[in-house]
Amino acid sequence: MATAPTPEEQVQTLREQIQHHEYLYYVQDAPEITDAQYDALMNHLKALEEQHPELITPDSPTQRVGGKPREGFVKVAHSRPMLSLDNAYNDEELRAWDQRVRSGLPASETLRYVCELKLDGLSMALHYGTGTHGAAHLERGLTRGDGTIGEDVTTNVRTIRTVPLSVSPKKLETAHMPQNFEIRGEVVLPQAAFVKMNEEREAQGMAPAANPRNAAAGTIRTLEPNIVAQRRLDFYAYFLLRDGETLLPTHTETLAALKTVGFLVNPHAKTVDNIDGVIDFIAKAEPLRETLGYEIDGVVIKLDSTAQQRRLGFTGKAPRWAIAYKFAARAGITRLEDVHFQVGRTGKVTPVAVLTPVLIGGTTVTRATLHNADEIARLGVKIGDFVQVERGGDVIPKIVEVVDDKDHPRGKDEIVFPTNCPICGSELMRVEGEVDWRCVNNSCPARVREELLHWSARSVMNIEGLGDAMVAQLLGQSASLGEETDVVTEEGAPIEVRKPLIHTIGDLYRLKREQLLGLERVGEKTADALLAQIERSKSAGLTRVLLGLGIRFVGERTAQLLAQHFGSMEALRNATAEELEAVNEVGPKVAQAIVEFFAVEKNQQLVDDLTGLGLTMTAEKKVVGTALEGMTFVLTGTLPTLTREEAKERIEAAGGKVSGSVSKKTSYVVAGEEAGSKLEKAESLGVKILDEAALLEMLKG
Ligand code: IVH
Repeated sequence: MATAPTPEEQVQTLREQIQHHEYLYYVQDAPEITDAQYDALMNHLKALEEQHPELITPDSPTQRVGGKPREGFVKVAHSRPMLSLDNAYNDEELRAWDQRVRSGLPASETLRYVCELKLDGLSMALHYGTGTHGAAHLERGLTRGDGTIGEDVTTNVRTIRTVPLSVSPKKLETAHMPQNFEIRGEVVLPQAAFVKMNEEREAQGMAPAANPRNAAAGTIRTLEPNIVAQRRLDFYAYFLLRDGETLLPTHTETLAALKTVGFLVNPHAKTVDNIDGVIDFIAKAEPLRETLGYEIDGVVIKLDSTAQQRRLGFTGKAPRWAIAYKFAARAGITRLEDVHFQVGRTGKVTPVAVLTPVLIGGTTVTRATLHNADEIARLGVKIGDFVQVERGGDVIPKIVEVVDDKDHPRGKDEIVFPTNCPICGSELMRVEGEVDWRCVNNSCPARVREELLHWSARSVMNIEGLGDAMVAQLLGQSASLGEETDVVTEEGAPIEVRKPLIHTIGDLYRLKREQLLGLERVGEKTADALLAQIERSKSAGLTRVLLGLGIRFVGERTAQLLAQHFGSMEALRNATAEELEAVNEVGPKVAQAIVEFFAVEKNQQLVDDLTGLGLTMTAEKKVVGTALEGMTFVLTGTLPTLTREEAKERIEAAGGKVSGSVSKKTSYVVAGEEAGSKLEKAESLGVKILDEAALLEMLKG
């Protein structure tokens, strides 16, 4: 007779299932079950582990983000130095390397090369050791450090979904791998995650990261594992070692084994018979660059045979058996024609280089950022200089240096950083300790323009039809104000600058149909659509309004927390710094910025004006819908995006009720991470269980 599985067996089975589905989802990008089904497996495992805490092991999928914030990283020596690679920049240098490789081996031997993409991330060593039930489990993740000694970033590495926390004995056996081994590979931040990260940083008033590699390096070294988990780093594996030695006879087999046991191996790798094959691979790889979704900066070529690698050995810092072919940098030399000073929403003045157009990596570059006055001083750049311009991963081109040789004479004109705002003329200010100069005139037209664009943005009040061109027209400005100092048409004739229709955000809500009809290229349809959009935005709610006001450091999440906590604009604007700091996640810097914002008379007037115009200034819970009418919900555990309060508010706003305990009358239990006894009770009573995604789906209905 079959006996019921023990809790230990159940836990084991669940872990294997979860791991399999994580692999399909994150590595193969081909899930076989729905998110809700995956969550159900995970919740089941969590519930079991909660009942039997003695069964929790560090390689359980529930333990990815278990780490506490850290105080620093411990330094650990590598099993064998993590070397760098020599570079080749053209076919000639590649052929010379091939020649050296072949002359280092007996003439009778054949050889093969493996070509891989050179991922622009940071290299990492992962150590696996004896885990439970014959599995190998992740023991340690080390950064490259100085090559000899790395930093232990295990807690952060564990949050990377493409790093297996354990490898089952079955897989180890299939791939002929021991329980103890070391994987080396590259951590990369996909471009989309990079863009998102920078948007968040900017919304919080922080400087954006320069490129995905810096962002990945910064992320892996943050002391806050939760942040790392949100960033969606990926790990691509390319070496398999044991006791510091390559384990398998060829690199081709290494890549295959890594794939078999569940690591993410870059799919663009190829084993070729000779250097012509390598050159062919490179020619095909370079155009891939724009389509991959992550940054690469070249191709790495490795001798396939491990025995041959050993025979060739190393020079000082690099192996003789591998080389990096570097793609031509996406950089170019051009002339700095002029510098314009752009004024942003916060009044920050950014010097923008106007360049003689130059083609860099398929894109014509005409502008580059010079960041701030300090950067101009650091570069020592003058107008008329030739400059080296680089186009990095998805960021605005930047000037890296001044080119000074006999073909490139120096320019003469000093760049004069303005003392007054180039748009409104008011004196620029610099807060002590900050690098940026700011226009502090709240009515500066450039600032108003940026404020309006921010207000109408999709993630803020979402006013369709209120883009660059429309805002410019409403302000009676040229669409390129702030970039161009002279207002001229393409043909060079001055444009007639009209009287502005609006001066403040409030004026938007006073716009009349006839006024809009007087604008260029605005017909009845456009005018009516825009007015409807503006009207609709009035009920966007307190969170959106707060976000729209553009208070420093107040991004989406903070705005939401503030709205929830204070419930109304009235309560919020009267709050003291102390009261503000009582809000979860609001620190002294943010509190201070909010107090300062509401102390400015113009801001007070704007808020009064918007209130008088009928904008919703309360947290979004007033209108009770009917989607969840008659249903009772119980919330348990931590949901991925909503807080307990938010979930409660949204359910109530849709006509549902939220109760504290599970009974037969409960319609649904909404379970998040670390759901406890309520989940079990629901299971035993047969109450339906939802995850956050399913709840959000119901809320829509
Ligand atoms: S092999 C001794 N393979 O490039 C062998 N490295 O310039 C060195 N990199 O430090 C590593 N993609 O961070 C190898 N497919 C790849 C790579 C790769 C990116 C990085 C790695 C290394 C640097 C050397």
